Amino acid sequence: MSEVLLQVRHLATEFDTEQGVARALDDISFQVKAGETLGIVGESGCGKSVTSLSVMRLLPKPTGNIVNGEVLFRGKDLVKLPAEDMHNIRGNRIAMIFQEPMTALNPVYRIGRQLNETLALHNPEMKKADIHQASIDMLKRVGIPAPERRMKEYPHQLSGGMRQRVMIAIALLCKPEILIADEPTTALDVTIQAQILQLLKDLQKETGMAIIFITHDLGVIAEICDRVLVMYGGRIIEQADIFRLFDKPSHPYTQGLLKAIPRLEKPAKENLSTIPGMVPSLFDFPPGCRFQNRCEYVQTQCEKDTPPLEGHIDDDHQVRCFRFKELVN
Ligand SMILES: Nc1ncnc2c1ncn2[C@@H]1O[C@H](COP(=O)(O)OP(=O)(O)OP(=O)(O)O)[C@@H](O)[C@H]1O
Ligand SMILES: [Mg+2]
Repeated sequence: MSEVLLQVRHLATEFDTEQGVARALDDISFQVKAGETLGIVGESGCGKSVTSLSVMRLLPKPTGNIVNGEVLFRGKDLVKLPAEDMHNIRGNRIAMIFQEPMTALNPVYRIGRQLNETLALHNPEMKKADIHQASIDMLKRVGIPAPERRMKEYPHQLSGGMRQRVMIAIALLCKPEILIADEPTTALDVTIQAQILQLLKDLQKETGMAIIFITHDLGVIAEICDRVLVMYGGRIIEQADIFRLFDKPSHPYTQGLLKAIPRLEKPAKENLSTIPGMVPSLFDFPPGCRFQNRCEYVQTQCEKDTPPLEGHIDDDHQVRCFRFKELVN
């Protein structure tokens, strides 16, 4: 059994807004083992990015706050860690790549400087020449041709796919134990997207790092993940290993998501059913199940009580729905 690197327990995150306090995450619990890839999937606004920002302690200050729960990294609670210790973990042991590389790259510095400074920051004892060489080697490993030349260029001189690779290179320079990838391929075309997924898989095999891969695309999840969390309205509504999730989706929302994946073997008109209705805003969630207004199986209890995240057959597959046992055969 691989060792558990990250264990998130009953995490809740709130934002202070002009309309009042918004609870963006409610009772989030999951774990990540060394070498595995955990996918987090769900519609826009369900809390995928807030989950990763909470783990990294990168919530906007002072409005975003973790109000409950623990984020145990190798048994140590990151929520309680002094800012300086957290700074050492970030980038060094847990790294993150973002959806839009330009937000992470500095437009006025050459690529080489950004790579070198990252390495120097995390390895103060390293010699300048070694740092330069290590940066070039990393650019090579992420598949950037002519890395010596690229080192001298600015981010705007690179294509979107190349910028994404540079961001991955920066994230990997310090050999993180966990890489959090927040929709790193959404802005790219499908060929580049496939290349980047392959690259992450290759690097994972080489280094044994764990990956948390955030996306709204179940196709990408199927491609790369071992386990999946499905989020809805700031809560986990189902978690399972990838085969069980696709074989026995048990929450009505997950079932809807899976039906919405286009399938080659089906005629076009049967494809792409969508889940009717909209996700309410954080302020408009009713008591009880947050999916109730879109659920065809809703009953009175769902409008009053929050369903617990319950084991389905065993604890490897968990579902938050009062009725899932009736819905799955
Ligand atoms: N700084 C903030 N202040 C107030 N509310 C916020 C803030 N950041 C996020 N939220 C709210 O928290 C909820 C979760 O947002 P989050 O960005 O995690 O969604 P997401 O699942 O990553 O969506 P997407 O797929 O669009 O990236 C949303 O309702 C969002 O409006
Ligand atoms: Mg997001």
